[in-house]
This record gives sequence, structure tokens and C-alpha cells, in this order.
Amino acid sequence: MNVLVIGGAGYIGSHAVLELCENGHDVTVFDNLSSGHLLNVDSRAEFIQGDILKNDDLNNVFNGKFEAVFHFAALKAAGESMLEPGKYATSNITGTINILNKMLENNMKYFIFSSTAAVYGMPEYLPVDEKHPINPINFYGYTKLAIENLLHWYSNLKGIRFGALRYFNAAGYDIQGRIKGLEKNPANLLPVVMESAIGIRDTMDIYGDDYNTPDGTGIRDYIHVNDLAIAHVRALNYIVENQENLTLNLATGKGYSVLEVIKNIQEIIGKKINCKIIDRRPGDPAELIAVSNLANEKLNWECKYSDINAILQSMWNVYSKE
Ligand SMILES: NC(=O)c1ccc[n+]([C@@H]2O[C@H](COP(=O)([O-])OP(=O)(O)OC[C@H]3O[C@@H](n4cnc5c(N)ncnc54)[C@H](O)[C@@H]3O)[C@@H](O)[C@H]2O)c1
Repeated sequence: MNVLVIGGAGYIGSHAVLELCENGHDVTVFDNLSSGHLLNVDSRAEFIQGDILKNDDLNNVFNGKFEAVFHFAALKAAGESMLEPGKYATSNITGTINILNKMLENNMKYFIFSSTAAVYGMPEYLPVDEKHPINPINFYGYTKLAIENLLHWYSNLKGIRFGALRYFNAAGYDIQGRIKGLEKNPANLLPVVMESAIGIRDTMDIYGDDYNTPDGTGIRDYIHVNDLAIAHVRALNYIVENQENLTLNLATGKGYSVLEVIKNIQEIIGKKINCKIIDRRPGDPAELIAVSNLANEKLNWECKYSDINAILQSMWNVYSKE
């Protein structure tokens, strides 16, 4: 198929582009490069620079040839979203509405969307499945929920078919080493640990060691980006073949604490990471893990690359070259 990948120069999007190309799709990447890297765009894909908030840029790229959109472009820092809700509403919600309206103008039907674990809010039980109550506690999570809701309306009213994929903690780098551009200004644990390992940071903060977990630090579910990428391409196949929408979790069902992650990376790199325990961050649950039974069932998908040491090693392969 002819697939337009919006945000395809970014961390997760660039891995999805590789997977689409490997599966024989014709790919065009549209990205404003605010946090992405041209270097990450596979040479088999065409690249068009532009912004989803600019109508002329969208008119330039939506030329009638595409059959599906993968949409990765968003602002994603939960903490910042609470301080600058307008920026997040515009970028995430208005930006997505702009894309959906261009899809309708161009008689396009298939849309794969990067949603998030943040739509669930504080977990009421673990592991989180798709029946878990939806109650975002940060504005970022709300923007993603608002888009999921919009997708149901566009589907009912205009026949859009969508896959809303709720990722837990995306981690790792391409197992074959094809993605080399590092995440810019990361806020997630693993890239922060890596930046500490290569000396971009002198020390790293651990937000609380008094949680009700075996070592007192927070436990999260880390999924390898290659596994995410595979699920995206299968989700596209599924919605095309079945003419049915999908909303599903992508996670491993296994969790690792902050201290376990740091211990494992120290063993891989053979040196100590400087850490400082500081206060908990408001809204951080002690533990967040999820099951992907729906993805297993509908997409015949399970994680292949998400062993924590494989994740860390694939990241170290990229960071150690910096
Ligand atoms: N990283 C995670 O753990 C995680 C977890 C859950 C959901 N997500 C979602 O996955 C998606 C991709 O995340 P990522 O980690 O790859 O982030 P990223 O910042 O690396 O990628 C986003 C890409 O979109 C581009 N972009 C941003 N705003 C744009 C705009 N207005 N117009 C055109 N391009 C624009 C950026 O340049 C970048 O290349 C996001 O929607 C994010 O909310 C990420």
C-alpha cells in the first residue's frame, strides 16, 4: 500500500517506517523535524518536511496517492502538558483533526494512531487490560483520549477505519542497528539512564524509593520498538482485511523497577551510573504493567525483542557510539 507516515523521522515512527518498507509498502514520511532526525528515515522512503498545523504543508503532501496514514507526530511530555495545555491541545488534538479532515478530502480510510497507557490514569488493578476504566490524570493522556473518541465519530460518520494502539514504555533501538539518531530531550527512564552512561548527564534522578514495591522504586513495562513496529503493520493489515477498528494495548505484561533497570545497564556497560533519590512525582503509580491479549488474538502478535537486557543492549549499541 501507499502509506503516509506522519512523524516518521521520530523515535517510534522511524522504526515503523523500516517495518513498512520490509513488508513491501511504499512509504512517504512527513515530519517537521522538531524532535525527529532525517538520518532516521530509511532511504527507501520519500521524505517531505512539513507541519500538521500548516494547511499548505498538508495540501502539499496529501496528493491523492495514499491509502493509509500512520500518525506518530505529537508532543508527549506528561509533565509539560500540565503546564502548557494549550500547546498540547493544538499540537495533538488540532493536528490530528487536520490530518483526519485531509484524509476525508482525499477519500482515504485507514488510520493507525499512537495512543498511550496514559489514557488509563492510575491503575485500579494490574495488569491493565483494555477493559480497565479510562481516566487520564494528565493533559497529555487526555489529548490522546480525545483523539480516540474523535476516531469513533469519524468512523461512524465517515467510514474511517482505525487502529488506536496504546503503548506502554517504548524502549530499545532497532535490533539491526539501522536507527542512529538519539531521542531529543528524553524524559523517560531508559534514555535518561543511557545519557548518564555516556556522560551527557552527571547524575540522574530517581523519583522516590518508598513505593510499595520490592525495592521501593517504580515498576514499569518496557516494550521494544521493533515489537511496536511489527504490531503497527499487522494492525494495518487487520483493519483493511476485516474492515473493523482496533483499540488495543501493546505491552509485555512484565515489569522492572528503576533500580533493576540501572543494575542491568551497569552490568552491560561495566560502570556505575550516578543516581540521586528525590521526591516522588505527582501522579506516578507504584507499578504499571499491562497485558496485550487483544493484540495476541487479533494480530497474532507477541513480543519477540522485549527482553529487558536485549532492550538495554540495543540502546547501548547506539548510545555508546555517541
Ligand atoms: N515514546 C513512548 O514511550 C510513547 C509511549 C506512548 C505513546 N507514544 C506516542 O507515540 C508517538 C511517537 O512518539 P516518539 O517517542 O516516537 O516521539 P518523537 O518525538 O521521537 O516523534 C514524534 C515525531 O513527530 C514529529 N512532529 C512533532 N510535531 C509535529 C508537527 N506539528 N508536524 C509534523 N511533525 C511533527 C517530530 O519531529 C518527531 O519526528 C507520539 O504520538 C507519542 O505520544 C510514545
